[in-house]
Amino acid sequence: MDLLTYTPQAKFAQQHLLCLQDYTPDEILQILSLAAKLKLQRRLGMDQTHVLAGKNIAMIFSKPSMRTRVSFEAGIEQLGGHALFISDAEIGLGTRESVHDVANVLSRFVDGIMIRTFRQSDVEGLAKYGHIPVINGLTDDYHPCQVLADMLTLYEHKGRLAGAKLAFVGDGNNMANSLMIICSKLGVDVSIATPADYAPQEKYVVWARRNAVASGAKVTITTSLEEALAGADAVYTDVWASMGMEAEAEKRARDFAAYQVNARVMSLAKPDAIFMHCLPAHRGSEVTDEVMDGAQSVVFDEAENRLHAQKAVLAMLMGKL
Ligand code: CP
Repeated sequence: MDLLTYTPQAKFAQQHLLCLQDYTPDEILQILSLAAKLKLQRRLGMDQTHVLAGKNIAMIFSKPSMRTRVSFEAGIEQLGGHALFISDAEIGLGTRESVHDVANVLSRFVDGIMIRTFRQSDVEGLAKYGHIPVINGLTDDYHPCQVLADMLTLYEHKGRLAGAKLAFVGDGNNMANSLMIICSKLGVDVSIATPADYAPQEKYVVWARRNAVASGAKVTITTSLEEALAGADAVYTDVWASMGMEAEAEKRARDFAAYQVNARVMSLAKPDAIFMHCLPAHRGSEVTDEVMDGAQSVVFDEAENRLHAQKAVLAMLMGKL
């Protein structure tokens, strides 16, 4: 399968990007294919400003961000649109004003919403009560934009998705959930290695196993690094204490110590395995400098691909192609 020449199997029917479990494999591949094309066009210096010409997109942040904010803002500008940054300290989503009312008011002003927040229910509420596309820029449950960029990166480095194997090491968090979902949809074998008390929630494992029946992927949940990394084409990790869990950081540092991705752990995967991290990384905790800065690391390619993947999402949901 060549992403640049991928032929859609069906019309793209999604109105929002809330959770990739709502998407078919074909819809995910349509986004990845467009992302690859937009990336190539940008490299060739082609103008893309017709795609979102005249469109305003509100970007709401209740949590800190560097990559998500900058890549969305730059991407919207490259597509000819205008991005408005709004801190949730101003909106007070669900406190100063109800999700229902915020959704209705923003729908009168702008053409789309990208939101980073804690509760997935708030993102779903904006989509339910508003009349414009809503994009999930990370919640406590999912990080769909990140894993779209990750699949583009895996494809670029390994030349395939279906049949490849990705091993996630660390906390069974929103990244683990989203990676399980997208990998199992696309036929990428996915193994999640966590300490016993930090496995992903059963609901997401059930979804992934169901997706895998259709795609042929293998889903493994384990505490064993050796089992997870055997035959892996990609080794992925994330911080041990996600945003909002700072009070647990010391306990987590003890609980996750054996799950640090270092040169020994990388050697458990294929010799040409790539190292992936959504960033920001806590060097010396979940990953060592030698791995972050080593020849197998593709972490900055992943960061760049946030731009291209999100431009594709914006174009599919609210753009003119
Ligand atoms: N990976 C990611 O979402 O980065 P930011 O938190 O900087 O947006």
